[in-house]
Amino acid sequence: MTDIRPLAAGNWKMNGLRASLGELEAIASAVRAGETGRAEVLICPPATLIAAAAQAGGGMAIGGQDCHAAASGAHTGDISAQMLRDAGATYVIVGHSERRADHGESDQMVRDKAEAALRAGLTAIVCVGETRDQRESGQTLAVVGSQIAGSLPHDATAATLVVAYEPVWAIGTGLTPTAADVAEVHAFIRHELIDLMPGEGEKVRILYGGSVKPANAVELMGVENVNGALVGGASLTAKDFLGIAGVYK
Ligand code: PGA
Repeated sequence: MTDIRPLAAGNWKMNGLRASLGELEAIASAVRAGETGRAEVLICPPATLIAAAAQAGGGMAIGGQDCHAAASGAHTGDISAQMLRDAGATYVIVGHSERRADHGESDQMVRDKAEAALRAGLTAIVCVGETRDQRESGQTLAVVGSQIAGSLPHDATAATLVVAYEPVWAIGTGLTPTAADVAEVHAFIRHELIDLMPGEGEKVRILYGGSVKPANAVELMGVENVNGALVGGASLTAKDFLGIAGVYK
């Protein structure tokens, strides 16, 4: 199996004022001190903090949480991938379930955003995952498969694409799938990636996200084909986030 460098990513969502940059600085200095080992560390703060975070976060990567599909234009309130890049981001999350649900983002819209990210020189983190109803009715793999088929950017490589499996029912709830369930979905995603991206699909990082905490990080990050975490709530404090990213030390 290819040796994949894991990615420990934090998604601050709509949290964080300038005062929160202290947490980010604490994470960055731990990264520089080697406390996160071989993992690549990424924080995606709100857009208002990206430029300052890129300055304060030496040693780690900074990303956006969404971008528009167009490079510029009459789209009041939106932010382009190029603008994120210009502010110092190197990653952007697209298709998070909160955007799919709250902003009606379809697979096609997510793909368009991911392709815009690649054009701007960003790495796209494309999120997929089933709802509770879909899991309970046995549709998990079908749902994830159709999100993969519909939302991944064309012409991506393992360097420009990350896939995050985030069961919607696990986000912010304290609930997580069993290690066996995570292994099943991640193996399925790996298989789909190899099919869609011959020569690259085996190297694309597949993150698990949804209630990752220091207490469950060793187990979840140890599952086969789990190449890192996408962390929401526990990424807001350096202590908790480092308790997760630190499993790679
Ligand atoms: P959570 O969020 O860690 O707070 O469950 C994960 C996410 O939405 O990326």
